Amino acid sequence: AGPCDIYASGGTPCVAAHSTTRALFNSFNGALYQVRRGSDSATTNIAPLSAGGVANSATQDSFCAKTTCVITTIFDQTGRGNHLTQAPPGGFKGPAANGFDNLASATGAPVTLNGHKAYGVFIPPGTGYRNNAASGTAKGDQAQGMYAIFDGTHFNGGCCFDYGNAETSSKDTGNGHMEAIYFGNINVWGSGSGSGPWIMADLENGLFSGVNVKQNTGDPTITNRFLTAVVKGQPNNWAIRGGNAASGSLSTFYNGARPNASGYNPMSKEGAIILGIGGDNSIGAQGTFYEGVMTSGFPSDATENAVQANIVAAKYATTSQTSGPALNVGSSISLRATTAHFITHTGSTVDAQAVTSSSSTALKQQASWTVRTGLGNSACFSFESMDTPGSFIRHSGSGFQLMVNANDGSKEFAEDATFCTHAGLDGQDNTLTITSWNHPTRSFRHFNNTLNAASNGGVHAFDVTTSFNDDVSFVVSAGFA
Ligand code: AHR
Repeated sequence: AGPCDIYASGGTPCVAAHSTTRALFNSFNGALYQVRRGSDSATTNIAPLSAGGVANSATQDSFCAKTTCVITTIFDQTGRGNHLTQAPPGGFKGPAANGFDNLASATGAPVTLNGHKAYGVFIPPGTGYRNNAASGTAKGDQAQGMYAIFDGTHFNGGCCFDYGNAETSSKDTGNGHMEAIYFGNINVWGSGSGSGPWIMADLENGLFSGVNVKQNTGDPTITNRFLTAVVKGQPNNWAIRGGNAASGSLSTFYNGARPNASGYNPMSKEGAIILGIGGDNSIGAQGTFYEGVMTSGFPSDATENAVQANIVAAKYATTSQTSGPALNVGSSISLRATTAHFITHTGSTVDAQAVTSSSSTALKQQASWTVRTGLGNSACFSFESMDTPGSFIRHSGSGFQLMVNANDGSKEFAEDATFCTHAGLDGQDNTLTITSWNHPTRSFRHFNNTLNAASNGGVHAFDVTTSFNDDVSFVVSAGFA
């Protein structure tokens, strides 16, 4: 049985079921999600390998070969049509056209389930999905349950990486108008023990870890690579549970009264569904989603424990984040654009210049980069400046320009300076496309002799689709210096 078969036997059926990695009903063999490719804007749906099974990622890989793909829709598997699509503007605007949020890269979160490759939904700040017209989800003080599987190592302190019940207007309509699972380490509202991240409940105008509005030490810092997070609520009662999605059982971190603040008892749930954003379309958060459901009724702990056993049996595991020409940590490389210019830096600006073996020593050093283990994720790489040790290529701010900056030791710097290398999109054997780990729709792009982290067809001038594949492909060779 799948997770939703287990919830149904417990008398608390799924009213929304979302996953890009697998079917959540034993009999489900419809579309799990839709991707859109950059080359011609065509779309295709990805279904399970067989009913109840893992996503057929080979469909995506062939459809997206030699181009980019984003996830346009995460289909609802319950038959209610509660699909998740690109979130519209609300209290806050997103960075995409017309104030919409960005769509996630289709390849940012590769994993395996029982050895079969699949892709999760890797959500950078600015990215979000929503359904403001969902049917069957809890309204008012009605009971609901939810679980989601996240990457417990991908989080931040922005508002708010959520999955669950939110406002139908995309605006903050007051306390108690949401009941969603939150994951991250923002501590301006509630917090748990340690420095986070924590599983909390986003109930609007507050993230809650227990009965107190601020800290509840029963809610632990939790960082499992695959994390099961549970939030459920019914009149006068709610709970937080969690555990390792790859082994073992769930623990209960809170089960008790509604928070000590006005507006949260009774609740005023509205029944929209959000993923990766706050109720008012706050877009500051990041995280990774693999699967999740919302139920009608308050699931028993026993039902959730059976769901957790099903999740463990699905055997989520990590897989390679890179492809194409191999890079050796510690080696010096140079990277040549298809125009014959090399990636260089002039001070903190990353640029592109003609460099040859007879160039000055200074220029050869400016064109040489030491390959390091990724500062923000050890499965990928960082590129340290040869002539400015301790400084790395990173993308900077909302302009996504590439800069060479000194490592300030922050988590944000480490993540902005981490890139996963892939076989070049231009299809040549010796080229690399160098993709941002924390913004995986974006890759190093050589454009008018500037270097940016560009997204195919995005809103910046340097995102233009024309010549994208060539501009994001670099010939890798031994460093000039
Ligand atoms: O409750 C925390 C956040 O506050 C909500 O997600 C958002 O709607 C509001 O800004």
